[in-house]
Amino acid sequence: MPFLQLSGLTKRFGEVVAVEDFSLAVEKGEFVSLLGPSGCGKTTTLQMIAGFEQPTSGHIMLNGRHLEEVPARNRGLGIVFQTYALFPHMTVEENVAFGLEMRGIDKKERARKVAGALELVQLAHLAKRYPRAMSGGQRQRVALARALVIEPELLLLDEPLSNLDAKLREEMQLELRRIQQEAGVTTLLVTHDQNEAMALSDRVAVMHHGRLMQEETPFHVYENPKSSFISTFLGKTNSLAATLKTTNDEGSALDCNGMELAGPPAHLRPGPITVSLRPERIEIVEAGEAVVSGPVIERIFLGDQWLFRIETPLGPLLVVRRNRGQREPEHGETVHLAWTPHHLRLLPKEDGAA
Ligand SMILES: Nc1ncnc2c1ncn2[C@@H]1O[C@H](COP(=O)(O)OP(=O)(O)O)[C@@H](O)[C@H]1O
Ligand SMILES: [Mg+2]
Repeated sequence: MPFLQLSGLTKRFGEVVAVEDFSLAVEKGEFVSLLGPSGCGKTTTLQMIAGFEQPTSGHIMLNGRHLEEVPARNRGLGIVFQTYALFPHMTVEENVAFGLEMRGIDKKERARKVAGALELVQLAHLAKRYPRAMSGGQRQRVALARALVIEPELLLLDEPLSNLDAKLREEMQLELRRIQQEAGVTTLLVTHDQNEAMALSDRVAVMHHGRLMQEETPFHVYENPKSSFISTFLGKTNSLAATLKTTNDEGSALDCNGMELAGPPAHLRPGPITVSLRPERIEIVEAGEAVVSGPVIERIFLGDQWLFRIETPLGPLLVVRRNRGQREPEHGETVHLAWTPHHLRLLPKEDGAA
């Protein structure tokens, strides 16, 4: 039996199906992210686990208990929501102590636990401060300490870093992972930020229109997306409309915009498909080795990498190159591109739903 088991969770708001037949197993100590675009049902899923929304149908089991029957306040979960504000009239340590006080923990024990939690989020030196005198990142650390101090069986985080600016957000991601590992707490994070989900999680669960689409390690989902929606949502990709002509154990033959392309063995029937090719898998080569050639129509410098858009007979292709301090093609210059066939991902054609 997994530590947390969601089975067939469904939530309807009138006509709107926010979450549909959602099943997910999470092991003790695991960090799993629910990743998907705005409105796909992430928050609703978390709210059902927290007990703030009642499932229309389905079950939630945590550590052998049926959670649906337990009122929210008795579920003993640690929760950090984007909008879960701190008490402004209480100091940091009073904020963190609050949940322990509610649980009737005596003063001495409270002080010990609060000190431990503040140590964990590296805020011991600010224990006497008021939230208003702290930065956004520090406040989210307090919120995290407040959630962790009760030693929850499960930590629920709903876009906890989304109000922070980009640089701080990246720092807090590393910090959040360290804190989660040190506390050893099973964690479910909701985010629409694919980089955040990939950087933090043992596994990502990709959601779309209330449904679970794919659930695996970040590397596996990135390398083997099940659908073209997932391949475009997780990282950048070139999505090409193509026709699968033939396939066998050695490889496949594709028609893409009138060009014949070699692909990996396909697990699809011949016919219209979508081909995904990651921009970092495309190489710039000599004319003789090219699969396609064409002029640079866009050239963007990102510091550690270059982003190119090349006009080719297959359509415009995005190409990413590590910046090694060398000269790179100029705008308008013709470049020759190649890739190995096994880097193509052959995916079922989607009817514009994504
Ligand atoms: N209380 C509510 N009443 C009606 N519709 C809701 C309510 N909460 C969420 N929804 C709808 O359910 C869907 C999923 O919402 P939500 O879980 O907040 O998505 P996410 O967190 O992924 O952005 C959306 O279409 C949203 O409008
Ligand atoms: Mg949300």
